[in-house]
Amino acid sequence: MSLKSKIDAQRLPEHIAIIMDGNGRWAKEKGKFRIFGHQNGVKSVREATEAAAELGVKYLTLYAFSTENWNRPQLEVIALMELLVSTIRKETNTLMKNNIRLQAIGNMDDLPPKCFKELKAAIDETQNNTRMTLVLALSYSAKWDITNAVKSIAHKVKEGKLLPSDITDQTIDEHLSTNGIPNPALMIRTSGEHRISNFLLWELAYSEFYFTDTLWPDFNKEHLYEAILNFQQRERRFGKTSEQLAI
Ligand code: FPP
Repeated sequence: MSLKSKIDAQRLPEHIAIIMDGNGRWAKEKGKFRIFGHQNGVKSVREATEAAAELGVKYLTLYAFSTENWNRPQLEVIALMELLVSTIRKETNTLMKNNIRLQAIGNMDDLPPKCFKELKAAIDETQNNTRMTLVLALSYSAKWDITNAVKSIAHKVKEGKLLPSDITDQTIDEHLSTNGIPNPALMIRTSGEHRISNFLLWELAYSEFYFTDTLWPDFNKEHLYEAILNFQQRERRFGKTSEQLAI
């Protein structure tokens, strides 16, 4: 029996978030430059996106570039930005054909203008697609996002538009760049690292975590099926007891 056919379509995670890690190590193992790993990582982005859409997952968020990644060697940063631009340009048609909407979270002001322009064009072109939303986290960090949310809320309080006593966790949801996107049910990190690394700190509060040793460029559809099957074997209690869930 194939892994895919074992997946219960009624209990799919509505939103899967992935920390794509291990590109550099994958390249090093092969005696190549780090960018070779990133280039091969694009193939895995395609595999994960296709597999998620085929199954009926509604949101897939990929951590493509963190705020901290700007501190990498300049050549790697430039090469990564080039790769992003060319991939977005190349894949927009495929996103249209497959009815996939592209969104982005992160500090878009930091992106090189060419990268921003290409990204914005793809977001605009795919905005009415309905099958699945692919969210790219670009120049993103959760602490940056939460800090911005706090600033916007503080402004509203200062202007008398909001009372401090009216601030709820929903108020915070609404001021994050993930506003409108359901929280991830499943978070996957590749390459054997067991960290969140400033990714969706608020939104992952009740997510199931799945870690695999597979390096991102080796990640394929079967790996995604494995992660979803593992997720489906877990009981999500959201702070309740098993008995309460059975009622
Ligand atoms: C982490 O591996 C990977 C990244 C920082 C970049 C991910 C980018 C891609 C897969 C390319 C394009 C993506 C899209 C969405 C078009 P690492 O460099 O940290 O690896 P290491 O931990 O082995 O050094």
